Amino acid sequence: MLTRRKLITQAAGITTVAALPQFLRGAGFTMTSVDNSRSITGAGSLKAHASARGLLTGCAVSAKLFREDDGFRKLLIEQYNIVVPENCLKWNILRPTPDKYDFTDADNLITFAQTNGIKVRGHNFVWHEAIPAWFAGMVTKDNAEKLLVEHIRTVGGRYKGKIHSWDVVNEAIWIQDGRPDGLRTRSPWFELLGPEYLDLAFRTAREVDPTALLTYNDYGIEYDNEDNEKKRAAVLALLRRMKADKVPLDALGIQAHIKADSKDGFGKGLRELLDGARSLGLQVYVTELDVNDDALTTDDIVERDAAVARVYRDFITNALESPQVKAVLTWGATDKNSWLNSRKIRKIHPDRLQRPLPFNENYEPTAAFFEMRETFDKAKKR
Ligand code: XIL
Repeated sequence: MLTRRKLITQAAGITTVAALPQFLRGAGFTMTSVDNSRSITGAGSLKAHASARGLLTGCAVSAKLFREDDGFRKLLIEQYNIVVPENCLKWNILRPTPDKYDFTDADNLITFAQTNGIKVRGHNFVWHEAIPAWFAGMVTKDNAEKLLVEHIRTVGGRYKGKIHSWDVVNEAIWIQDGRPDGLRTRSPWFELLGPEYLDLAFRTAREVDPTALLTYNDYGIEYDNEDNEKKRAAVLALLRRMKADKVPLDALGIQAHIKADSKDGFGKGLRELLDGARSLGLQVYVTELDVNDDALTTDDIVERDAAVARVYRDFITNALESPQVKAVLTWGATDKNSWLNSRKIRKIHPDRLQRPLPFNENYEPTAAFFEMRETFDKAKKR
């Protein structure tokens, strides 16, 4: 029988979209209309292949898509054993005014996940972005510590025992700011509290929810190139320093926003990062994987999907070499909703939608889906 996998493999060698079977052209296909659709759910799902290796696999969840689209909710149940709210736990969404929290979207997602046996990551307590508009006029060096501690106590406390891992601090390293330790200085948290904000956040998070695995999350640390090398070294030094100071820290999150056109590999540098995390006794999660294909010169969807899928395979294969890596999450599940499709990010081909995720806009599996499954199969059991 001609499986979809074979079709896609064959399709990778075909250059014109018109020569492809209808379902690979992305029109008129629904999961139920194809004979072998069952092969991608149940035992064929991402989560079945991942959990056979002791891995978690998941995606970021847009609150809007979650609310409005049962197809998306169905996909979450079928494919994933962990989810992370894309935005609704960020300050700007959660805290419309200084004294009001809006937990509606987060509560709904967490209840849904619990009902369906899906774990939840928390993203995030501290980030230099997603700061609410009221913050600037209200937060000072005198009240910032109280505000941060209260925030972590309120949000972490509400979901205590329900969160697999919290991204306690997101993206604290920014080499370009020029500090020897690489800490990002153009962040309200750094400006208000100095470098101590990190330890404060982690210690508070541990007090509030002792079972959540506390994670430091960052991007631009996986490639073999000079910029990533510098940032990776600074991240590892930060984690080492925190461990030495007995700051509660359980995991490193590698965002892995990677690119289809990059010439740099995931070799020595990624190994150094994973070995470094291992030597500190940290788990590692791939937290936000997606492959930006904006710079690809070809418009051919099959060629683009094949290029994206190759990068998925290359990155995940190398990452899963390390037994520390316990989870692989993509930033979104369907191209219908990817932050990479915001106009701001599609600079090179503004009129072309990106295809960075394991499902296309019709919830059909892309070539990346099949590479994810296969790389899980090839990984050693955790
Ligand atoms: C992005 C969301 O996907 C967008 O919807 C939002 O407008 C901005 O933030 N690194 C992170 C994520 O840690 O929180 C970001 O998410 C993507 C980059």
